[in-house]
Amino acid sequence: MLTWEELSELTRTRRSIRRFQDKPVPEDLLLKALELATWAPNGGNQQAWRFLIVTNRELIRKMGDAVQAKTELMASWPEAKQFAETVAQWRKSSDFFRGAPVCIAVLIGKYSSIADQILQARGEADPIAREIRSCRETAKTSLQSAAAAITYICLFLHYFGLGTTWMAGPLQAKKEIEQLLDVSPEWDFMGLIPVGYPAEDPKTRPRIRM
Ligand SMILES: Cc1cc2nc3c(=O)[nH]c(=O)nc-3n(C[C@H](O)[C@H](O)[C@H](O)COP(=O)(O)O)c2cc1C
Repeated sequence: MLTWEELSELTRTRRSIRRFQDKPVPEDLLLKALELATWAPNGGNQQAWRFLIVTNRELIRKMGDAVQAKTELMASWPEAKQFAETVAQWRKSSDFFRGAPVCIAVLIGKYSSIADQILQARGEADPIAREIRSCRETAKTSLQSAAAAITYICLFLHYFGLGTTWMAGPLQAKKEIEQLLDVSPEWDFMGLIPVGYPAEDPKTRPRIRM
C-alpha cells in the first residue's frame, strides 16, 4: 500500500503539461496506465469507454489542424472581439497537443440504466418523464464514467514521470477528429489527453480550501 504521504505527493504534484520532450513514450507504460484506469468507478460497470492511443505524428498534426481551424473560425467572429486578449492566447494554445508524442483520444459509448430504459419506453408525451430525461442528460453517466477514468489515467501516467493534459477543447473539432480516427457511429469522441515527458515545470495552480 502507498502511504498517505506518498499518495498525497503523487496527487499534489500532477500538473497539466503542455510542452513535451521529443522523447518516445514506452508503450507498456501507456497500457499499464490504461488498464489500471479501467478500474475506475463507472456507471453500472458498463465501461462505456474506449481509449485510442494515437502515436502517428501525421494524424496528430491533422487533429491539430482541425482544432486550430475551428479556433480561427470562432476567433474571426465579431463576437470574439470583446475577448481580444484571451482570444489571442487561445489562438496560440488550443492545438498545443501537436507537440505531444502521444495523444489518447477518449470515446464514450451508449450507457443505459434501468431508469433510461423506462424513460425511453415512456416516450415524449409525459412532461415529468421529459424532465427526468433532461436532468439525466445534463450529466450523462457515460461522460461521468469516462471522466473518472481520465482522472486515473492522468494520475497514473504522472506516477511514471509522464505529463498529460485533460483536454475538452478539441471537442470543437469532434466531427473531424472522429473522421480522422475512423470512429464508428456508436461512439463519441469526448476528450483528448496529450502525453509525453514534460518539457516544462508549471507552477502549481492553487486549490480552493475545503
Ligand atoms: C474537463 C476538463 C477540460 C479541460 N480542458 C482543457 C483544454 O481544453 N485545454 C487545456 O489546456 N487544459 C484543459 N484542462 C486542464 C485545466 O486547465 C487544468 O486541469 C486546470 O487549470 C488545473 O491545473 P492542473 O491540472 O495543472 O492542476 C481541462 C481540464 C478538465 C478537467
